[in-house]
Amino acid sequence: MTDVQARPETVCRHETTSGAVPTRRAVLTGAGALGATCLLAACGTDTRGSTGNNEPEYSNDPIPAGSSGPAGDASGKPESDGGGGGVVLAAKADVPEGGGVIKGKYVITQPESGTYKAFSKVCTHQGCDVSKVDAGVIICTCHNSEFSILDGSPQNGPANRALPEQKVKVDGDNIVAA
Ligand code: FES
Repeated sequence: MTDVQARPETVCRHETTSGAVPTRRAVLTGAGALGATCLLAACGTDTRGSTGNNEPEYSNDPIPAGSSGPAGDASGKPESDGGGGGVVLAAKADVPEGGGVIKGKYVITQPESGTYKAFSKVCTHQGCDVSKVDAGVIICTCHNSEFSILDGSPQNGPANRALPEQKVKVDGDNIVAA
């Protein structure tokens, strides 16, 4: 009876674990069935690199489009010269009433209390950047063109076209692109 209790050597993990001692016929029949099962199920084969569960899980998800990292500086604030909707162009506190400030790609002005405007800082004469806001005008010192802080229209000098306007709105303490 000891030969009946000898279990066939197998590496198949699909063996029964019920603990019942099989008869010789059951062992032989079962071994055949297990062998077939193992062949069909590729039992004992190394599944690493396919669908093995012991492998670390990797994501095949691509980096989401447009997620090249936060825009702006290390403080997490958006760039101040982007020009897109919602982008901070300047803090209200930085724009003097009756004057303006040059930041990023824009000159931001406050022609009247609480009214803010923004214009391209590129002079329409020959493309210099305007360099200052003084006495109610935006000045390009390349050839001394002057532009209105209210609408960017040329006021003096060789430039004869207005500075392109960027629509803005106030968002809390900031002036942002609209
Ligand atoms: S480029 Fe500005 S005045 Fe000529």
